[in-house]
Amino acid sequence: MPAETKTETYARLKREIDAVLEGERNQTARYATAACLLSEAFDHYYWTGFYVVDPEDPAQLVVGPYQGTLGCLRIPVGKGVCGTAAERRETVIVADVEAFPGHIACDSRTRSEIVTPVMDAGGRVAAVLDVDSTDPDAFDAEDRAGLEAICAGLLNA
Ligand code: SME
Repeated sequence: MPAETKTETYARLKREIDAVLEGERNQTARYATAACLLSEAFDHYYWTGFYVVDPEDPAQLVVGPYQGTLGCLRIPVGKGVCGTAAERRETVIVADVEAFPGHIACDSRTRSEIVTPVMDAGGRVAAVLDVDSTDPDAFDAEDRAGLEAICAGLLNA
């Protein structure tokens, strides 16, 4: 059987994540499950996880469920790749983190990353999904489409 394409893997993962999360209302459980299944599926992922908008201070993102090495605890909205994606309310792909002004280096092995917002029904950002790779230029339009589709089903609202 031919190997699955990346787009096919994302489509399969979305079906798996949606099936496992069916009926689960706890948001931490939803984020943790998605981080685990995504992290296990792809060799080009090094750090996979969520930064959530802090309900006590919506100008800050605070680390949520993740798979990987120690992540920074807090990122101001507007700072770093995560904060930029939250501020712009759109996916940000950074092919070379050293060329991104204000990149926050939680782990110096990270070379490239993609950050996709998780939006609520009102179009507000609830969290961002951050995926980092130790390879340069690891993420493309297929990763963007796959992660945006997965993030669209993650909020229990
Ligand atoms: N590189 C990110 C920070 C988060 S971690 O790498 C886990 C950024 O600039 O937003």
